[in-house]
Amino acid sequence: MTERAAVILAAGQGTRMRSPLPKVLHKVGGRTLLDRAIDAADALGCVRIVVVAGPHSPQVSAHARARLGEGAVVLQDRPLGTGHAVRAAEHALADFSGDLLVAYADTPLLDADAVAPLFEARAKGADLAVLGFYAADAGAYGRLILGEGDALHRIVEAKDASPDELQISACNSGVLAGPATLLFDLLKAVRNDNAKGEYYLTDVIGLARDRDLKVSVVFAPEARVLGVNAQAELAAAEAAFQETRRASALAQGVSMPAPETVMFAYDTVLEPGVLVEPYVVFGPGVMVRSGAVIRAFSHLEGAEVDPGAIVGPYARLRPGARIGAGAHVGNFVEIKQARLEEGVKVNHLSYIGDGSIGARTNVGAGTIFCNYDGFDKFQTHVGADAFIGSNTALVAPVRVGAGAMTGSGSVITQDVPDNALALGRARQVEKRGWADRFRALKREGRKQT
Ligand code: UD1
Ligand code: CA
Repeated sequence: MTERAAVILAAGQGTRMRSPLPKVLHKVGGRTLLDRAIDAADALGCVRIVVVAGPHSPQVSAHARARLGEGAVVLQDRPLGTGHAVRAAEHALADFSGDLLVAYADTPLLDADAVAPLFEARAKGADLAVLGFYAADAGAYGRLILGEGDALHRIVEAKDASPDELQISACNSGVLAGPATLLFDLLKAVRNDNAKGEYYLTDVIGLARDRDLKVSVVFAPEARVLGVNAQAELAAAEAAFQETRRASALAQGVSMPAPETVMFAYDTVLEPGVLVEPYVVFGPGVMVRSGAVIRAFSHLEGAEVDPGAIVGPYARLRPGARIGAGAHVGNFVEIKQARLEEGVKVNHLSYIGDGSIGARTNVGAGTIFCNYDGFDKFQTHVGADAFIGSNTALVAPVRVGAGAMTGSGSVITQDVPDNALALGRARQVEKRGWADRFRALKREGRKQT
């Protein structure tokens, strides 16, 4: 197989988003647009991936460097167009002579399956292959001027198109593939004498045809190649992503009585036989095993839920929450960086942060793991078969032994041995008849005023 590299364009201003956050760092399914583009290139086996970023958004460069390394980011000094942007990557790919995939970072639903046919077209003899689609509303997309069969003659940008050309519904997705050396060579001939005064990448198609090269077009479903330029399109991409994920979860045996209310992340894993009630949000990094139930209005992120566990309604699982088999996490319970062994019950109004709870332990309502002193975080460990009385404050670092109990309302600051009862609360005082005397005094006072 010819070696593959990718250039991902992310140096545009993204002004139409009207957001202080760079466009390509917005997310779909909890993953940035930029990471999604890189994921697709990765999945296609690209040995080199170069991100073209702009000097105006150091956040984008930093993000790409953190993932791909220093050499993988090049700067386009000024956003003079997509063709100009690809040229910014030429130097970084000087020693590369395989096939180059060019993709825009603002096409979040693109995946390897949609792009792979471009390389098939290359294998069948096309010099360049372009990914197109038929748009329901072609709007500002570049239009494909098609020839016989799968031939593509040129791409005309909407702003430069004649009224007749604007009627064309075959559009450019922005993704193309061809030999790196050929692409960089063609780009040298691209001019900016057009409506936007930009160097269009899309002009390489017409230039290739002028040289009698073979350019093929491959069509993808519109949903895969939707470009995000404004918030409404980002929302539309999110909706399309969610619809796909819901359908595949249902197809894989997940029960969801109201799938349209459940939000997935790009990497959510729900095993067959999981039940997800309405209005559940999965952030990144969630794994729920067979037979677990996620009840309504719960929010999970970075969490693992074992078979038969019940989470919610109204539960919040934060990163590092590990919910053992058959455990119950009830309403208004927050769990972070903590492992609940099998059969643990934390049913009401609790915060369990930084620690662990042994098997079958029951944690009473209102229990708090006091894990933070304003500077550092500390651990709380509760053994198996323990019983934590309601409204216990466990002040970390602290351990409660197996089989131990704490009295309701206790503030536990010292380790509790196995099977002990710990009480850390004021003794009750009773004053006989006090309430009666109090009421009499109050009534007397009222009469006088
Ligand atoms: C582009 C295509 C259009 C296609 C559409 C698909 C061109 C000239 N037009 O239009 O044919 O239908 O995408 O979504 O290519 N970028 C840079 N540097 C620049 C300009 C842009 O890196 O100087 C990056 C942007 O960050 C973005 C991508 O290139 O990720 C596309 O740029 P954008 O301005 O969104 O192009 P469109 O007008 O959408
Ligand atoms: Ca775009």
